[in-house]
Amino acid sequence: MIHQPNEQQRAGRVRWKRQPTPYERFMEEEGIPVVRGIGLNDVRELPLSPWTRLGGRGSYIQLDGTEGVWGMYVVEIPPRSELRPERHVYEEVYFVVEGRGSTEVWKESASRRQVFEWQAGSLFSVPVNCWHRLVNAGSSPVLVLAATGAPALMNIVNSTRFIFDNPFDFTDRYDDSLGYFTPKTELEPHPLSERAILRSNMIPDIVNCELPVDNHRSPGYKWFEPFMAGNHFFGGGGQQLPFIAEHQTGRYSKAHAHASGAVLVCLKGKGYTCTWPTELGTRPWEAGKGHLVKRQDYVPGGMVTAAPGGGNWFHQHFGVGKEAFRVLAIAGGYWWVKGKPGDDIVSNNADLEEGGRSIPYAQEDPRVRAEFKRALAEAGVEFRMPE
Ligand SMILES: [Fe+2]
Repeated sequence: MIHQPNEQQRAGRVRWKRQPTPYERFMEEEGIPVVRGIGLNDVRELPLSPWTRLGGRGSYIQLDGTEGVWGMYVVEIPPRSELRPERHVYEEVYFVVEGRGSTEVWKESASRRQVFEWQAGSLFSVPVNCWHRLVNAGSSPVLVLAATGAPALMNIVNSTRFIFDNPFDFTDRYDDSLGYFTPKTELEPHPLSERAILRSNMIPDIVNCELPVDNHRSPGYKWFEPFMAGNHFFGGGGQQLPFIAEHQTGRYSKAHAHASGAVLVCLKGKGYTCTWPTELGTRPWEAGKGHLVKRQDYVPGGMVTAAPGGGNWFHQHFGVGKEAFRVLAIAGGYWWVKGKPGDDIVSNNADLEEGGRSIPYAQEDPRVRAEFKRALAEAGVEFRMPE
């Protein structure tokens, strides 16, 4: 029976517990762990559980700031076994953390399967709603990290049958042509930013491949964006693609801010990220708010969310390894879009006085550089920032 208030009262209550979204309920029902937080040191350290639907052992990863938009999971495929085939109308990008194996891809109606091989360091994407199966024919375990657009889509349609049992054929994404998964190496300029992109549905080794110099985030910074499998959620249409970037050893990025959604996965070197709400200003330690700055350390296989909460946290990435610090950054493509078509876009990498969202080195909190120097000294790495 509903509560009928008198004139001084409100009906019902004003406080309750947040309920799980359709995607969160789906993750719970999968019966594997769900890891949350601002990041993690190394996916190899995660507890994994047997995964009935997909096979192998897995864990979901839902970092602070990606909720409702995109999600990740890690899955281990034991030696001489394979995952169960699946298809889904959300997009998926895979990064191989350990081991080697192959992927079979086929359309519902196809008489043959395309097969391509991968190894630790490979990045690939299976075209949306194609059947696919990951196989480990070798004698050591495989560990794969996958990123998907499942949360956004599931939360809208709220039907796992629509997601996993849908006959729609995305002919514009996949035509079963031979060579679809043959790695391409030719970089081309992004149609809008003119920075480097690579159209390739499979990249054999993003940990060690050559990267072009870009200079956007630090001196000598290298960078390119892979455009894979016609993905629309992970970029496409001139929006934010995943990217692969590298800071030279002994150097660090400018602090910058943008909406939540991006996650950096460490590929090489090791490092840490500091992040703080923009309302603390450009010099949080000097303002006595240093205790509100969050820090995540990570090694290859570890990760950090770029902006927790609703976003617009400054964040700053520091490589402290002897090797250059290389990361894979992933975000759902349309997470930051504001305004209307034709509006001017200023890169987050532009400095504050250029209308961008980056704090120039000269204006940052002195504690930032001091802390970085201390971490480098501890690791025995030379400080190589220009004055
Ligand atoms: Fe960022």
